[in-house]
Amino acid sequence: MRIRIFDSRDEVIEAAASVWINYAIAHPTGIIGCCTGTTTNPMHALIVEKYKKSPFDTSNLRTANVDQFVTPNPCPKKLTMYHSMRPLFEGLGLDEEHGMLPNCTPDDPELECERYEKKIQALGGIGLQELGIGSDAHIGFCLPGTPFGKGMHVTRVSDKIVEDIRTQPQHGVDPSYGPFYGMTMGLKTVMHARMTFPITIGSSKAQATANAILGPVTEQVPASILQMHPNCLWYMDKEAAEGIIGRINPDGTLIK
Ligand code: GLP
Repeated sequence: MRIRIFDSRDEVIEAAASVWINYAIAHPTGIIGCCTGTTTNPMHALIVEKYKKSPFDTSNLRTANVDQFVTPNPCPKKLTMYHSMRPLFEGLGLDEEHGMLPNCTPDDPELECERYEKKIQALGGIGLQELGIGSDAHIGFCLPGTPFGKGMHVTRVSDKIVEDIRTQPQHGVDPSYGPFYGMTMGLKTVMHARMTFPITIGSSKAQATANAILGPVTEQVPASILQMHPNCLWYMDKEAAEGIIGRINPDGTLIK
């Protein structure tokens, strides 16, 4: 694992957007795994801004989201991560075939997981996997306790996500339509990416960052599996790095 600590949130987003763009330019037919959330959405916005100033070839580039909702039936509207991804898809000109998401209204969510994972594999697998990390170190919808060996799977979403479903303007769905489920890449799926790229910003991520990087590799800390990934680059700001300051060599590796 290589770690880079930046002075500010903006510097993390700027540098992370450059990693993403450089990867896309070097791998024009590659697949970049994407997350939604307060960490990665602003990075996507900056990628689009940079792309508008200096376009690069995105005609064969693909993205694949790490997670997606299963819209309950009945439900007044579709629950989908598409709303969060639309700025990136439209900004880079990625159509449905290229900006990939699991279908949010599948007949059989388990089968949809299988189809999505097989499709990604058939297209060559994920090259760069950007990762937002929850304050409990979750990845996608893989909460603490999720077995490391799981691939793409269906799971109940957390209470925090149910709250997002109720309050976020793009959703605004009453919790009485629940229980709510999501489809998520498993930690096994994430570990298959050729490069993993977690990003943590802010003091609310400090504990999760320290636990994942310095603590034991345990299913109770989903992101700790990244210690075992052969090519993991972790970007963070000073606040998120609070618990690991003094533990990093100048080259970004951990002081053993
Ligand atoms: C959410 C999403 C993930 C995201 C993570 C961190 O629950 N399902 O895809 O990466 O948690 O989100 P944020 O960056 O908003 O902290």
